[in-house]
Amino acid sequence: MKNKTVYIASDHAGYKLKTKLIKIFPEITDLGTNSDESVDYPDFAHKLTREVLKNNGNVGILICGTGVGMSIAANRKKGIRAGLVNNAKIARLIRKHNDANVLVLPGRFININEAKNSVQAFLSSKFESGRHKKRINKI
Ligand code: RB5
Repeated sequence: MKNKTVYIASDHAGYKLKTKLIKIFPEITDLGTNSDESVDYPDFAHKLTREVLKNNGNVGILICGTGVGMSIAANRKKGIRAGLVNNAKIARLIRKHNDANVLVLPGRFININEAKNSVQAFLSSKFESGRHKKRINKI
């Protein structure tokens, strides 16, 4: 079975933060954008969610200015549970309680330290299932 892959993508407003995070987490697969030239966030949300859905266990990180556009676009895809996060505690909880497979960060409203801690918490936490599974099944 293919190993779990962690993907990251952003629009121009998230490009700077994405670049910093890739330096800290070089194992993450970068799907663009590749500069701070203006692009449309749904293009990158769709590109990343397509990859995440290819293999059970894959996860993704999306960044735009507020994180809201990426969240809306990503959550349109069946099988994607994307959570907008601005601190590590919430990043941990979206894995444990919501089985989130996409972490969304607000590139213009989070500092690198909090973003790094959030990524670490998201990647190292596991879904608790149980009562949370029942709730996810109702979505
Ligand atoms: C781009 O200016 C900005 O609108 C975008 O990054 C995002 O915040 C949309 O939700």
